[in-house]
Amino acid sequence: MRIRIAAANWKLNQSYSEGINLANSITNLLGNFSDESTKIILATPFIHLHGIAEIFKRAFGLHVAAQNCSLYTSGAFTGEVSAEMIRSTGAEYVILGHSERRNIFGETDEMIAQKIKLALAAGLNPIFCCGEKLEERNQSHHFQVVRNQLMIALKDLTPQQVSEIVIAYEPVWAIGTGLTATPDEAQEMHKFIRSEIATFAGASQAESISILYGGSCNAKNASTLFAMPDVDGGLIGGASLIAEDFIKIVHSL
Ligand code: PGA
Repeated sequence: MRIRIAAANWKLNQSYSEGINLANSITNLLGNFSDESTKIILATPFIHLHGIAEIFKRAFGLHVAAQNCSLYTSGAFTGEVSAEMIRSTGAEYVILGHSERRNIFGETDEMIAQKIKLALAAGLNPIFCCGEKLEERNQSHHFQVVRNQLMIALKDLTPQQVSEIVIAYEPVWAIGTGLTATPDEAQEMHKFIRSEIATFAGASQAESISILYGGSCNAKNASTLFAMPDVDGGLIGGASLIAEDFIKIVHSL
């Protein structure tokens, strides 16, 4: 069964108490939400993981994600947080390969591939982000760029491991800009991603993997994007910081 997902990416926002309040508001607004084919994931700063995982223990279909993990498992790496440490908080997911990690912090495809392996070994489900920059789309290189990102990230994984991953297609030109891919542009790329997954991991994995759209997805445009057959939900930045907006997006799934 293909799961539909609304994932919030809080980025570098929310003090500890603000984050706990936001998670509580989302839980309260959702009420008795229970749908086995839907998941809601909050990707928070590390400081919130345990507190929100504790709140979500009592709720159905709500999960916590980190936004990154270390390339290392333990040792003298000041400031780092390992995949196992993240798992020990109760978090079940980790975003890897976000364009801000790639472009601001210099993460390469190879580093991201290594992090995916560490996350899977720790029992975390990676939310793997891919997507092209504006100049790459303007030069019609977007399919090749995304194919390369997928190939390096997934090439050493077993089909079973691939099935533990969520993909987020996030065109870099749409992130935080107010420019959204059209539903047709999103569908075209999601379909392409699904066909690439079929090549790496097999048709049944491709059919069941969730592929999220991210990049200025909000309460107004979510329902038209999510109506596309290969768009299984969204990774939401700015609009996820307002509980009512995020809930509208959840109800658009
Ligand atoms: P945005 O961010 O919704 O604010 O564009 C999405 C993301 O970066 O995951």
